This record gives sequence, C-alpha cells and structure tokens, in this order.
Amino acid sequence: MSENETGANGADSIDKQASHGRWRLSVAPMLDWTDKHCRTFHRLLTRQTLLYTEMVTTGALLHGDKPRHLDFNEVEHPVALQLGGSEPADLAACAKLAEQWGYDEVNLNCGCPSERVQRGAFGACLMAEPGLVADGVKAMRDAVSIPITVKHRIGIDKIESYGFVRDFVGQIAAAGCEVFIVHARNAWLQGLSPKENREVPPLRYELVHQLKREFPQLTIVLNGGIKSDDEIAEQLQHVDGVMVGRQAYHEPWQMAGWDQRFFGTAGPAQSREQVEADWLLYLEQQVASGRPWTQAMRHALGLWNGQAGSRRWRQIWSDHQYKAMDVRAVARLASQSRSGIAAQVEAHEARHQAAALL
Ligand SMILES: Cc1cc2nc3c(=O)[nH]c(=O)nc-3n(C[C@H](O)[C@H](O)[C@H](O)COP(=O)(O)O)c2cc1C
Repeated sequence: MSENETGANGADSIDKQASHGRWRLSVAPMLDWTDKHCRTFHRLLTRQTLLYTEMVTTGALLHGDKPRHLDFNEVEHPVALQLGGSEPADLAACAKLAEQWGYDEVNLNCGCPSERVQRGAFGACLMAEPGLVADGVKAMRDAVSIPITVKHRIGIDKIESYGFVRDFVGQIAAAGCEVFIVHARNAWLQGLSPKENREVPPLRYELVHQLKREFPQLTIVLNGGIKSDDEIAEQLQHVDGVMVGRQAYHEPWQMAGWDQRFFGTAGPAQSREQVEADWLLYLEQQVASGRPWTQAMRHALGLWNGQAGSRRWRQIWSDHQYKAMDVRAVARLASQSRSGIAAQVEAHEARHQAAALL
C-alpha cells in the first residue's frame, strides 16, 4: 500500500475522501431500527459516519405529525432523511421540509421491495420507472440546495443484466443526482418477504464496481452483506463509500474504530464503560421529558456483544419486570451481573491456565 493510500495517520485511502468524503461510510436506513434514539447512540461510537433515518413516506410527512417524523438530536449530524414516494411535487415539498428541519441530505428509496410499498408505487418498483425517478430527483433538486441521493438495487425480479442498472443510474444522473447507494442484489417483487429480499437474491458486488468504473464522476456507495472492517476497506478500493446496515446495528462496538481507521480522526468512544455511562445520561434525559427509557435502550442492547456477561446484561435491560424501575438502578443491576460473570470467566480461565502448566 502506498503512503497516499495508508495516510500518515493510518487511515485507509484518506486521499480518496476529497471529492466523495461524506459518503465514505454510512449506517443504512432501517425501518423501526434507525430512529433518532438509535442514531444518537451511534454517535457515541462514531462522529464521522453518515447516518440515515428510517424511510418516511411523503404521505406520512405531508399529512401526518411532522415533528414526530422529522425531529432529531443535534449530535446526529451528518444525518440524511430517507423518503419513500414517487410523486415529484410531493417529493419536492418533503425535501423542502427536510432542509428546513436541518437535514444534511435527502435520499430517495428505490430499493424497498415490500408489498405495502409496491401498492404505493414506490420503493424498488421505481427502478422500472426511471423517468419518474428522474422527475422526482429534478423536482427535489430544484426545491432545495442540500444533496439529493438515491438508494436502489442492481435489478428487479429476474432482470440480471448490468445494462438495466447502468441505464437506471445514467438516466437519474442526467437529472442531476450525483450520489447512488447501491444495494448489490436484486429485489424480487413477488414471493419474498422484505427480510428474504435482504438475504436470498445473490450479492453481486462486481456490478457496483462496474458502475463506478463507468461513471467515475459519480459517487457510488456499495451496500449489502458487509461485515468486517477489512471488507469495508477492500470495497473502498473499488467504490467511494460503503453503507453498513445490520452489522452496525447488531455489533455497534465495531463502529468505535471507524473514525480512526476510515477518516483518520480520533473517535468519541474510549471504552464500552464510557459509552454506557454517556448513554445512561441520554436515557435519564428521556425519562425526565416523560418518555420511557425502554424506547431508546432497545437499540443499545448489542453494546457488550462478544464480551463475557453480555447476554446477562442484555437480559436485564430487556426484562419486562424492570421496565418501570429507575434507569440507574437497572444499569447498576445489569453492570453488576455482567462484571460478576466476567470475573467468573476470568477466574475459570486462570484456573485452566494454571492447570495446563502443572
Ligand atoms: C430492519 C430493517 C429495516 C430496513 N428498512 C429500510 C428502509 O427503511 N429503507 C431502505 O432503503 N432500506 C431499508 N433496509 C435495508 C437496508 O438499508 C440495507 O439496504 C440492507 O439491510 C442491506 O445492508 P446490510 O446487509 O448491511 O444490512 C432495512 C433493513 C433492515 C434489516
């Protein structure tokens, strides 16, 4: 690896950030998961990673409770609002709201395969209507000055050809979109649940790499099935950014190393204990403003994953009998149980090692 690629501070390919830096690493939009509490928790682990909201439909935003859908915590920046919709005028109105609310980007969902979304004629089925997506992108771009980005699949149903996704990207790029987040598998619009649609259609990263080669001026972000930091680094050799979904949610501590490795700056997290202590302050704020701490806490249950006692810690935090208890008392109980088990494991290992020496 050259000096440029490694960077003086040890981050991978820092030089490549110049033009596409904001999208270098992101956490995916995930319905029911990446709400503002979840994103606030992720900010205790990484300052630089771009965070996406859950998908909000244009109908819900225009006719529903706007603050409920749009409010976020200042610490979440940079944060992007993901929209689900297809009507250009509605998309433009929602993009305006997003800009007024302070979002850093609006992302259009062209990748969701759920039947409910298909009935609304948006999500992945929009890949069959690039003209409509282009009109939507143009309408949003005319309405706001924050970036408009598109998240999509590599194809729908049995369309396997590279030409399909190339023409889609080409047409939307002609309408002014410069950033494409590509979930590197097809969406099968019939017969698979949304969950199966994130697992069954095969991943084909090479198509996303090909998009980057064919459209070097665009920012191309790869998504789907990425787990380790080494896999992220490997993909960054081919594309401008990587978006991580389930792995980030389930193994949040992994994000504690991202700022250093991928952005060359120190991250906010010193230790799991410190993150837990900071998170507890947030939970207390929630309680003080009349909200149950459980709503936020469910997103942090993976913090200790992989460490001795993590299962007990998680069980205590999710146990119904403690829901009405003071949050500090629950934290003490969870922490004591976890360290008790960790101490037992340590003692057991020490005995094991001593026996091996005899
Ligand atoms: C629970 C859940 C909810 C999701 N909701 C959305 C969504 O609202 N909008 C969207 O574009 N993708 C959604 N996705 C898909 C993810 O953004 C991502 O494309 C997919 O999980 C593949 O990335 P991964 O393998 O890194 O998880 C969701 C995924 C999960 C697991």
